[in-house]
Amino acid sequence: MTSETTYEAPVTAPVHDWASDYDIFDPKYVSDPYGIWDDLRAACPMAHTDRWGGSWLPTRYADVYAIAHDIENFPSGNGISVVPIVDMGPASSPSPLLAAGVPPISADPPLHTWTRRLVLPTMSPARVAEYEVFTRELCRRLVDDVLARGQGDAAAEYAQQIPVRVIGHILGVPESMSATFTEWVRDVLEFAHDPERRRRGVTGIITYLQGAIAERQAEPKDDFITELLHAEHDGEPVGLPVVMGMCALLLIAGIDTTWSSIGSTMWHLAAHPDDRRRLVAEPELMPTAIEEFLRAYAPVTMARRLVEDKDYMGCPMKAGERVLMNFPAANRDPEMFPDADRVILDREQNRHLAFGAGIHRCAGSNLARMELRVAVEEWLSRIPEFELVDPAKVTWAGGQVRGPRSVPVRVR
Ligand code: HEM
Repeated sequence: MTSETTYEAPVTAPVHDWASDYDIFDPKYVSDPYGIWDDLRAACPMAHTDRWGGSWLPTRYADVYAIAHDIENFPSGNGISVVPIVDMGPASSPSPLLAAGVPPISADPPLHTWTRRLVLPTMSPARVAEYEVFTRELCRRLVDDVLARGQGDAAAEYAQQIPVRVIGHILGVPESMSATFTEWVRDVLEFAHDPERRRRGVTGIITYLQGAIAERQAEPKDDFITELLHAEHDGEPVGLPVVMGMCALLLIAGIDTTWSSIGSTMWHLAAHPDDRRRLVAEPELMPTAIEEFLRAYAPVTMARRLVEDKDYMGCPMKAGERVLMNFPAANRDPEMFPDADRVILDREQNRHLAFGAGIHRCAGSNLARMELRVAVEEWLSRIPEFELVDPAKVTWAGGQVRGPRSVPVRVR
């Protein structure tokens, strides 16, 4: 079940000055960005780089929060990826089938408003409670596998296997497609800097969805694709590009993100026996613990692309440059979170930005939280004692979505 492709960060020139020449693909940033953020917050809270088309990197909670709410100056319709080539918004659409982009995430109002409304009911607490049954059964099967072998990869063989199947279940995609979908989503997000792989991922997803949509047009099913095909806006069907874009988004937004959060949490529990034993002994801490894992290891960095030159916080931002929505660094800001670099399982005040903020705040957060909680509960109930086989064997992927890709563990 292990994915065949390992993460290869793009080869970049070494960074000598993080304030004026940062690179989020630098191996140091991918594996351990926390000290870099601390230094920048103190010396240059809005860093700049000319790399990857030019971008700005806020590191303070207040700044990330303010930019996320300022949709006039920082729209999403002009590009949301952290590197130039992956944008799937209308301006750079790789296919007429994605002419509407991947709404709502790549859209500004009014397209954003009504497409978000279409997706929210599918992610409501009541619907998510229905998906929990499937998720729990799936996690049990995966834990059985690890137990049978006495060891396994908590990232590749556990975390990575969960969200793709849950989203497949919601969209009506067969489980046999899971490995292929995982590869396509990695092509689009992790390998966004590699035009060949990105093309492979986008083409794979579009071609698959084209077939799936045609099947449901011929014979409706009880799934989200069919729901969207029957949805209307202003009395008209929503149109194929919107159906295609929204389904592609759910696949892309729901897989790598949640898998990264589950993976980081498993890594933390393997590497921090005190926290693991406390969570096993005090399962009532689960709700605050889940929020704390989301805060401490927030996986997603989105971008906004400037439409025109703008002076912001004294920074001369240029049209076409990006601002990286550094939700992960905001979550480590000690101004907002006392002892920000420590995982505190019962942290009470925790208004973290792992799911973003403002109108684009994650529409799948109920689902993501459920998957993370069930994954941890099912693992800990059967494998309360486990440890890293070798900390040096743990690998991380970064860029738009950061998380561990390999966490070999041994059951004790
Ligand atoms: C731990 C897992 C997840 C994290 C950390 C996460 C994070 C985020 C973030 C930061 C945003 C805001 C993007 C921006 O400001 O540009 C976002 C948006 C979104 N996410 Fe998630 N996400 C997760 C899981 C999911 C899942 C499971 C789904 C659904 C299948 C999902 C669907 C969406 C959608 C549809 C949006 C766009 C909302 C809008 O633009 O109005 N996410 N997510």
